[in-house]
Amino acid sequence: MFDTTYFPQAKKFWYMGKFYEWDQPNIHVMSHALHYGTSVFEGIRAYNTPKGPAVFRLPEHVDRFFHSASTLSMKVPYSKQEITDAIKSIVKENELESAYIRPLLFYSFGNLGLVPKFSPVELTIGAWDWGAYLGEKTEKGAHVYIVPWKRVHRSQLKMTAKLGGAYVQSAICGMEARSLGYDEAVFLNLEGKIAEGPGENIFIVKGGLLITNDKTESVLEGITRESVLEMAKDLGIETRVGPMTKEDFLQADEIFFSGTAVEIAPIIRVADGSNPEEEKKEYVIGSGKTGEITQKLARTYKDAVSGNIKEYEKWLSYVNA
Ligand SMILES: Cc1ncc(COP(=O)(O)O)c(C=O)c1O
Repeated sequence: MFDTTYFPQAKKFWYMGKFYEWDQPNIHVMSHALHYGTSVFEGIRAYNTPKGPAVFRLPEHVDRFFHSASTLSMKVPYSKQEITDAIKSIVKENELESAYIRPLLFYSFGNLGLVPKFSPVELTIGAWDWGAYLGEKTEKGAHVYIVPWKRVHRSQLKMTAKLGGAYVQSAICGMEARSLGYDEAVFLNLEGKIAEGPGENIFIVKGGLLITNDKTESVLEGITRESVLEMAKDLGIETRVGPMTKEDFLQADEIFFSGTAVEIAPIIRVADGSNPEEEKKEYVIGSGKTGEITQKLARTYKDAVSGNIKEYEKWLSYVNA
């Protein structure tokens, strides 16, 4: 019944304080979140380091988890410390050296009116071995598709929160991009500027300047994005945070995605499908190969998450500490 093909190394998941066998889910099908998307989640990675597995920027992820929960008026049944400990324990329990970790808070079974008045808030955490989100395109560079659908606007939903229901747009557009033969979608916002990918922030490089947008452009301000900005400054790369027009994007020297799942993944070709009335246009970004600044940041990021850069060890929470 439950296909574990894509989770080959997950043994157990954590649910309300206990570990369960991966293929023994016990959540009721009338759970509120399953019907209306009333859940919030985090996407976290742990990496193999010389001191064993370490979770990257765990306190920041837990803080954002609580911020998302407050957006849905959830009373979180555990403290930040308990969730932090549970996240580490799921990596240990699964004997994972590196992992993608997925905490999920959701309104469970109680009532099915739209207001989850009698549905308790429950917490589950999964962890599994998950390679590069964009597969070999992380090395080679991705071909992305600017979708005609505009990103949900910050005046419509709090886009700084990771609300399960809001990700239906990411799922639809991610599928649409792939069904047309592209590697990933890119959203414009309602103002017509560059927003983000379905689960990724976007950086561009022009004339040596590294640019990304912020929450005023209806994007999640990613934790990877913040790390990239800090690493860039440390590497002496000039940075700017502000809106990016579609023209800035198409004429950039380099573009890359950042995110926990995708890590740092170059974008080397873009199909602009943003106007459904017009034919899609194709663009090659820069030289059509991964750019120098992208490479430098990707290398530094890899070293940072792997515990090989002293000054960034502050970002690691060792699982076996
Ligand atoms: C919509 C969206 N934007 C950006 C990101 C990147 O955020 P982070 O770097 O915190 O993973 C994510 C992933 O969490 C996301 O879902």
